[in-house]
Amino acid sequence: MEGKPVRDSQITMMVAMNPEDANPLGNVHGGVVMKYVDTTAGVVAIRHARRIAVTASIDRLDFHNPVFIGNLLILKASLNFVGKTSLEVGVRVEAENPLTGELRHTASAYLTFVALDEKGHPTPVPPLVCETDEEKLRNSQAQVRRQYRLAERRREKSCKI
Ligand SMILES: CC(C)(COP(=O)(O)OP(=O)(O)OC[C@H]1O[C@@H](n2cnc3c(N)ncnc32)[C@H](O)[C@@H]1OP(=O)(O)O)[C@@H](O)C(=O)NCCC(=O)NCCS
Repeated sequence: MEGKPVRDSQITMMVAMNPEDANPLGNVHGGVVMKYVDTTAGVVAIRHARRIAVTASIDRLDFHNPVFIGNLLILKASLNFVGKTSLEVGVRVEAENPLTGELRHTASAYLTFVALDEKGHPTPVPPLVCETDEEKLRNSQAQVRRQYRLAERRREKSCKI
């Protein structure tokens, strides 16, 4: 299968945060941000695979700053690593105050998707071509995270009765 560059699937998604996105404190609910993180990353995985891809795992999601109603949520997502059937997508979330232009880093996350065939089984995806130094660095860091995930999976499986 022919490789595809990172730039072919990366996206930036922007969503205006409205009152229905609020938590009881009046700021944007963390779950709303999580949903957009998952949705944006999923689009990247599907654009690369040109297949349905499901979320297999989310490594961690730290919220650095609150998002306010009226802010524009900006999600930048691109592929870091592609295995045989799995894909790691990195998402950076920023919040912009559209009145002032102030930008704040809200969250970052790494998500793993698995491409599925028509029967719902994992299916091979095109290899990832990393062109820039930054893409190559992200790729090598993603390979380390993958080793941790695989080791964790093996450990969990061996604990099952
Ligand atoms: C994700 C899923 C397809 C994996 O199926 P599986 O039979 O365990 O897959 P396999 O063991 O054959 O592994 C397939 C690939 O997925 C990766 N993978 C599987 N589980 C993973 C996990 N929890 N985290 C990261 N990667 C994972 C494997 O490393 C492998 O990658 P590779 O082909 O690039 O080497 C299956 O667990 C599933 O359907 N889960 C539900 C997904 C879903 O519905 N998500 C939305 C939740 S609402």
